[in-house]
Amino acid sequence: MNSSAKELTIGLIGTGFMGKTHVYGFAIADRVFDLPYRLKLVSVADVSEELAQSAALSLGFESATSNWMDLINDKDLDLISITSPNVFHKEMAIAALNAGKHVYCEKPLAPTLEDSEEMVHAAGQSEGKTQVGFNYLSNPMIVVARDLIKSGELGDIMSFRGIHAEDYMSDPESSYTWRHDPIGGGVLGDLGSHILATAEFLLGPISEVLGDCVTVIPSRKAENGERREIIVDDISRSYLKFATGVTGSIEASWLATGRKMQHDFEVHGTLGSISYSQERLNELHFFSRKDNSGLQGFRKIEASPEHEPYGRFCVAPGHQLGFNDLKAIEISKFVKAIEGTELEPFNFESGHRIQLLINAIRKSSVENVWTRVTGV
Ligand SMILES: NC(=O)c1ccc[n+]([C@@H]2O[C@H](COP(=O)([O-])OP(=O)(O)OC[C@H]3O[C@@H](n4cnc5c(N)ncnc54)[C@H](O)[C@@H]3O)[C@@H](O)[C@H]2O)c1
Repeated sequence: MNSSAKELTIGLIGTGFMGKTHVYGFAIADRVFDLPYRLKLVSVADVSEELAQSAALSLGFESATSNWMDLINDKDLDLISITSPNVFHKEMAIAALNAGKHVYCEKPLAPTLEDSEEMVHAAGQSEGKTQVGFNYLSNPMIVVARDLIKSGELGDIMSFRGIHAEDYMSDPESSYTWRHDPIGGGVLGDLGSHILATAEFLLGPISEVLGDCVTVIPSRKAENGERREIIVDDISRSYLKFATGVTGSIEASWLATGRKMQHDFEVHGTLGSISYSQERLNELHFFSRKDNSGLQGFRKIEASPEHEPYGRFCVAPGHQLGFNDLKAIEISKFVKAIEGTELEPFNFESGHRIQLLINAIRKSSVENVWTRVTGV
């Protein structure tokens, strides 16, 4: 850590799954990377004083509040991390940007395209820098995958197949959550957003989609014990046409019983292929037709210090990074963008781009026709 560096003061909204992951990232990013700032956790907000106070104690914040506007109004805070449910992202982010804060907002950027448009506009009017939490793109092995594609090692790309599947909604008796809310819910935004971001990271813009979004479990148990109707998607699939002419597909499902983190893809080219699974995030599998016949097969490339920034975490190859480390990498890039030495790696405009894709897939599913994605 650069102890003479100035402080970047942080306020966190939400202390659930992602709130804790953000804290981990902030706690280690300035120790693992040479950053221009020391990252200081100052204030935390959640829905009740009790929740906020207990999170402040366990996560190491100086103060806690049940009113997130206290963080926005705190002139001493530089950066606001938003890890609340999607439906609150717009209001919180715009308030923070208007107050001149840097904003790190979880994905998906917003429940609707109109909301994300407003957020992009607010970011354009503000001095604050923005970041959306598409952490899988910070995995060095995904960067290796993209480099293999770009360098021509795979030859001409012929197809892409991607999936993000988990099983946290697969029990029909599991409860109604904010993820089922008609505004801001559904698997396409929750998990599909991730695999769409990966698809474009690897192969560039998607220009047309043919979507199919389905609700499989028609009702869920609400807090009052009654069953509540579900209208958001449990599984979303889409065929894709990239602007390059390459075709592909994605699937997003939270009903994939037994699957805990299947953020997987394959890219097939005329000279070779790559295959990746987030369940083994330190590995990339590469098949090359240039290998001697009789010895051809997928080779496993294991993450090592040669794959920057793995070596920042561990000098030994094959010892493996974890999910939280990806958050620390994402934060390190954002902090460099705040300093002005690098571009924002995935700002609100990039987040809005994912909303455009989600919107096009939903529209296509309703109208049952190929739909152009605007902006390409
Ligand atoms: N990047 C990723 O890999 C990833 C993974 C999971 C979730 N997410 C995203 O993170 C966000 C949160 O998801 P989660 O799984 O952490 O949810 P969660 O339900 O575990 O946590 C949400 C937190 O926000 C708090 N909250 C709700 N309303 C609030 C309000 N008005 N003011 C202050 N706090 C409030 C809740 O009490 C809770 O602490 C979502 O946008 C989700 O899509 C991203």
